[in-house]
Amino acid sequence: MKKLVIEGKRDLKGEVHISGAKNSVVALIPATILTRGKCIIRNVPDISDVRMLISMMRELGSVVTFENEILTIDNSNVNPTCISEEYASKIRASYYFMGSLLGRYHHAEMSFPGGCVIGSRPIDFHINSFKKMGAKIEEKFDGFIMNVDGFKGIDIFFDFPSVGATVNVMIAAVLAKGTTRIVNAAREPEIENVADFLISMGAKITGAGSGTIIIEGVENLGDGEIDVIPDRIEAGTYLIIGSLLGTDFKVTGVIEEHITSLISKLKDAGVSIDVNGSTIKVSKPDRLKPVNIKTTVYPGFPTDLGQPMSTFLTQCEGESLFEETIYENRLRHIPHLNNMGADIKAFDKTAIIKGKTDLVGRKVKATDLRAGASMLVAGMIADGTTTIYNIEHLLRGYERIVSKLNNVGANIKLIDE
Ligand code: EPU
Repeated sequence: MKKLVIEGKRDLKGEVHISGAKNSVVALIPATILTRGKCIIRNVPDISDVRMLISMMRELGSVVTFENEILTIDNSNVNPTCISEEYASKIRASYYFMGSLLGRYHHAEMSFPGGCVIGSRPIDFHINSFKKMGAKIEEKFDGFIMNVDGFKGIDIFFDFPSVGATVNVMIAAVLAKGTTRIVNAAREPEIENVADFLISMGAKITGAGSGTIIIEGVENLGDGEIDVIPDRIEAGTYLIIGSLLGTDFKVTGVIEEHITSLISKLKDAGVSIDVNGSTIKVSKPDRLKPVNIKTTVYPGFPTDLGQPMSTFLTQCEGESLFEETIYENRLRHIPHLNNMGADIKAFDKTAIIKGKTDLVGRKVKATDLRAGASMLVAGMIADGTTTIYNIEHLLRGYERIVSKLNNVGANIKLIDE
């Protein structure tokens, strides 16, 4: 069991550099299964989700190296065996192996995908799309057995622009017969990153990043390479921390356009933000004004920044309304914030956050990845010592978070008991 011990209220100054995006790389790795060629993925964050996916690739017969943020994957000896529960159930993105194994090998067997417990998180859009494209899917008590004679390209419409389903159908459609059109596709930047990677291998994809994506099936793919885009959620988390504790605090290697929603809200709250190319400089103001936050799909305010932002709102003078619209269960961190002295009334998926409240260090739990980020922000602004348990969740998504923050003045210890 790992825990973080944080001494709060340290002033922060200096630079934090942003790593590659977790939610891109967790799709890029399974997507390589579509080719027997060699793939190079650069700017790969060293996080536990990546380590898990590397193990899954090796289980399938891939030869993988991971050094200096560069992942090389050689799939020339892949054998599409069953993906064991040990892996699949621990990581949500294991569902991308369904699209890539079915697309390339016409057969996939795996346990149900895991991931953070933040709602029911069904994968019916994925499954129904694969079925419409010709797959036969048998659901057993412990997972799926899937077969297809070769996917056929069709029109797919999503009731909701799901990130995972958009990427999975895009992956599945690359080697399909004919043309697939995804309508009401998700527009998150990670989708364009995955499309660019597939295009580098020889896929024919247009419209990724817009609401309609067109994939013209090709017979086979060759070698591929890509740079993982910067992690907009990691960047956002550090900007929130800098807005509360920083003086001339710089977050570098950011694509500002990917976090416009957050920057706009921080400015509304009174934070001074200066964007210069890929560097964003932030300083805490004397007082923060309340702002309302409603999480939604890109380019709206990201659900993955909702929890750290809710900690920020406890420091705003007045009442802020917080609304989560993507997941049913993303307010499980609120009791922990209240335990630290926050004044938050949560109802289902909304919360009224009254500030400013002085937080005090306590023993708290990271109930999921972004809840862990919320607790980390809380511990950093609290008086005294905060201990965060279940920190494995946080380490799944933030590369070297402890050293990145300690380098700019924080006092955080990672303890492995
Ligand atoms: N949904 C369905 N059926 C489906 C798929 C989704 O009803 O078949 C619903 C979900 O239950 C949810 C909503 O649609 O209410 C959005 O889900 P989406 O499919 O967009 O999310 P996801 O692909 O499961 C990815 C990220 C999440 C991030 C969301 C939204 C990965 C591995 N996960 O999840 O990341 O919150 O997109 O941007 O890419 C995180 O990083 O903390 C995280 C949870």
